[in-house]
Amino acid sequence: MPAPTPTANGVLPSVLDAIGDTPLVSLERITRSLDGRILAKLEYLNPGFSKKDRIARQLIEDAEANGSLRPGQTVIELTSGNTGTGLAIVCGVKGYPFVAVMSRGNSVERARMMAALGAEVALVDQLPESTPGQVSGGDLELVEAAAQRIAAERGAFRADQFRLASNARAHYLYTGPEILRQSGQSIDVFCDFVGSGGSFAGCAAAFKEHRPSIKCFVIEPAGAAVLAGEPLTRPDHRIQGGGYSKPDLVLLRREHVDGYLQVTDDAALSMARRLAREEGIFAGFSSGANVAAAVRLLETTCRGATVAVLLPDSGLKYLSTDLWP
Ligand SMILES: Cc1ncc(COP(=O)(O)O)c(C=O)c1O
Repeated sequence: MPAPTPTANGVLPSVLDAIGDTPLVSLERITRSLDGRILAKLEYLNPGFSKKDRIARQLIEDAEANGSLRPGQTVIELTSGNTGTGLAIVCGVKGYPFVAVMSRGNSVERARMMAALGAEVALVDQLPESTPGQVSGGDLELVEAAAQRIAAERGAFRADQFRLASNARAHYLYTGPEILRQSGQSIDVFCDFVGSGGSFAGCAAAFKEHRPSIKCFVIEPAGAAVLAGEPLTRPDHRIQGGGYSKPDLVLLRREHVDGYLQVTDDAALSMARRLAREEGIFAGFSSGANVAAAVRLLETTCRGATVAVLLPDSGLKYLSTDLWP
């Protein structure tokens, strides 16, 4: 996809051209007593308030280019809300009907925002033993089954973020190179809380290609660290958007993983609150997880390093939860 082309007076032709090029901010208050820097990419400043706008644009534009999406065809995807919001924006602007299939376990703001953007939202009940706000791998399997059924019924294009290379490509082409450029190529470490693995895969590929010594760490919820080969003891963690206990993420390239980190719910929540209070950065649970892991790296094996993290989405998406008591 060509780079956005603003008109001469700086007016963008659509909101799709406002996706990406998010600021990179040094968390100087949180790192005050630490040896090293954390550079945080404010992905919540995308039009849909998450990094997933990037992959939504890439998934649709790649599918248009390779012919797998026909003009006017319905688009469908399962989502924890953020990819759905991105797809609702992209499909709305480009004129494709969009169906978002989401677990009732995700926060209600997300479903309401997708509906406001013109999406049809199909909510799927959680397993009887699951808790609202805690979407497990089992819950996600129910959402997957519903997405497959509706896709077959409607003859829809499945914008499958777990399988299509466009997901990682969006981060390989843009997010990773933006971080390298904005930091003056100064990053040593990248750590990322994994859902589909697209962000990790794309950014890590860009970083390793630039300098193979940049260390890339996968972050998982404590008790659901299946990528690290740990037993699953807490499938119902609270870090929304990832940690689905799926050991077979096809986008993730293990040769790019230098190590695995685990973050507890408490650590993710309290760091998200610190980001808001100390840095004026209003972001979600997984942002807290990413920064908590980065702090741990600076305290232990990566002293003195510059660590890059993504802040995947906005704290506004969690106003109905106890993240903000
Ligand atoms: C809030 C949030 N954080 C993290 C992730 C994980 O990102 P990825 O799917 O690129 O691994 C997602 C994915 O949906 C998300 O919505």
